[in-house]
Amino acid sequence: MLLGVNIDHVATLRNARQTPYPSPLQAALMAETYGADLITMHLREDRRHIHDHDVFAVKAAISTRLNLEMALTPEMLDNALQVQPADVCIVPEKRQELTTEGGLDILHQQDKVAAYTEKLQAAGIRVSLFIDADNQQIQAAHDVGASVIELHTGAYADAPNKTMRTQELLRIEEAANQASELGLIVNAGHGLNIHNVTPIVKILAINELNIGHALIAQSVFLGLGEAIRQMKDIMFRARSLPY
Ligand code: PXP
Repeated sequence: MLLGVNIDHVATLRNARQTPYPSPLQAALMAETYGADLITMHLREDRRHIHDHDVFAVKAAISTRLNLEMALTPEMLDNALQVQPADVCIVPEKRQELTTEGGLDILHQQDKVAAYTEKLQAAGIRVSLFIDADNQQIQAAHDVGASVIELHTGAYADAPNKTMRTQELLRIEEAANQASELGLIVNAGHGLNIHNVTPIVKILAINELNIGHALIAQSVFLGLGEAIRQMKDIMFRARSLPY
């Protein structure tokens, strides 16, 4: 299972004081050194953390691949076509939200999602759609021509009790299996941390996790390299593979 390290919150810390440090680029390179399989960054419309120059700098320097998360807007489409990341993950975006709340609604904007997907794919960029574990959205993701989905694990991570967490987990597992049967590559992410990641890793239909906030938070205490090593160790153990 692959680990995408989301470095957005290195930029959050930098921007809090408008200093040049800590550098998202340095974080990306260190993440690769310590086992990140890809680097994920979200260029939000309000540029609250990652800035445009960060995306270009990271894309030019990394040796794994860049997964650029972005909203479904003409500006972001232009950005992606300039940056040429290996992957674009299309996410819904609301200005006032603390973080990405809920998955993309493909069903009600199928033509628009299909048109963006086609333009990105024509430029050689693989398109992933960040969606809730919902069978209609999964079918719609397939219908618009995406090859990858990322299942939103936020409802699982934030479940207030064990019963609801178990329900959410089951929903994610069923969704991952359905998507996999349709031939989609299945990724997952949001709200994952060392305490809740294991049951998600055990869903074999999931190919890649994208994790940000908890890894950057843990790196305050352990250092980024050790935080990534710790997460990868948990992931490898959960799949019963030698580390
Ligand atoms: N995947 C997607 C599509 C996201 O939008 C985010 C948050 O930016 C993440 C994964 C990572 O979430 P977290 O920071 O909670 O690990």
